[in-house]
Amino acid sequence: MSDALGIERPQAPFGRRVAAVTARIEHGPYVSLTVRDSGGPRPIAGQFYMLQTVEDWGGGVDGRPYLPRALSFARVEQEGDGLLLDFLLEDVGPGTHRITELAVNDEMLIAGPFGNGFELNAASWPILVAGGIGLAPIVALDDEIRDLDGVRATIFVGMRTNEHASAAAHYGLEHELATEDGSSGVRGYVTELLAPLLSAKNADHVVYACGPPPMLEAVRSICAEHEISCQLAMESGMACGFGACFGCVVPTHDGYTRLCVDGPVLDGDKLDTALVAGAGH
Ligand SMILES: Cc1cc2nc3c(=O)[nH]c(=O)nc-3n(C[C@H](O)[C@H](O)[C@H](O)COP(=O)(O)OP(=O)(O)OC[C@H]3O[C@@H](n4cnc5c(N)ncnc54)[C@H](O)[C@@H]3O)c2cc1C
Ligand code: FES
Repeated sequence: MSDALGIERPQAPFGRRVAAVTARIEHGPYVSLTVRDSGGPRPIAGQFYMLQTVEDWGGGVDGRPYLPRALSFARVEQEGDGLLLDFLLEDVGPGTHRITELAVNDEMLIAGPFGNGFELNAASWPILVAGGIGLAPIVALDDEIRDLDGVRATIFVGMRTNEHASAAAHYGLEHELATEDGSSGVRGYVTELLAPLLSAKNADHVVYACGPPPMLEAVRSICAEHEISCQLAMESGMACGFGACFGCVVPTHDGYTRLCVDGPVLDGDKLDTALVAGAGH
């Protein structure tokens, strides 16, 4: 369905709906939670949901968190007339803390899917680059690519340690790994895996990336240097998730844009920098 801007994307139904947790798995410091969504359309990779717990939200010592938190889905599966949505979280504050504490059969409130997903160019050789918790939409994109005949992605994953990297193994990604402490794969940043491949200039590539702003900026700059298009799944603080609050704006060549509506996936060539203020990761 296309929206008011004429963009084709699955549209979120109005309001929040209850979704029960069906699985919870720890991967080192990360947690994956699967929830059953009976009321939303099938999302595309790069879209996100606004999540909150049913209980214990807006309370606590300092009252936080008041607002739901934005989370990309990592995997979607049809189950009967509903969807199983898989989220990958890192506990970095009150919101993610409460969500990661949920157990199987607990309920949460979800709204979505929101935003623009990745626009897959099947004519080009896809290169997927994930940094840390930015793995989530990259898993979803790889699932979409695997559904296409004859297309396979090259996947680079960067993690702080081997413990963090266990999440990539859980999702079955066929990837090359870089860890910052050298505990697994190549020691260093994931962009050190990407740069030599792009320098070789032996294929028509498109790069799809999600990760912390310094990683996205490094990807954007390497791609600009080699004149290769890239799509970056970005983050900024999101209060509503559907275009009403303007809390998520980021500067682009076309002026300020709301990341929740016009993103979170933006073309790298629309940006001077992916180092935007207020991004969490
Ligand atoms: C479109 C979109 C998709 C997202 N997808 C995911 C996802 O799939 N998984 C996920 O875990 N998060 C994801 N996030 C990030 C998540 O929404 C934020 O980190 C959120 O603010 C966390 O809420 P909180 O209440 O736990 O922490 P907050 O109170 O909001 O943040 C606590 C503090 O931690 C900082 N911080 C936030 N994240 C990190 C981090 N990783 N490392 C170090 N410091 C950090 C913040 O800047 C802040 O200072 C996404 C954000 C957006 C906009
Ligand atoms: S989060 Fe409210 S406008 Fe984007």
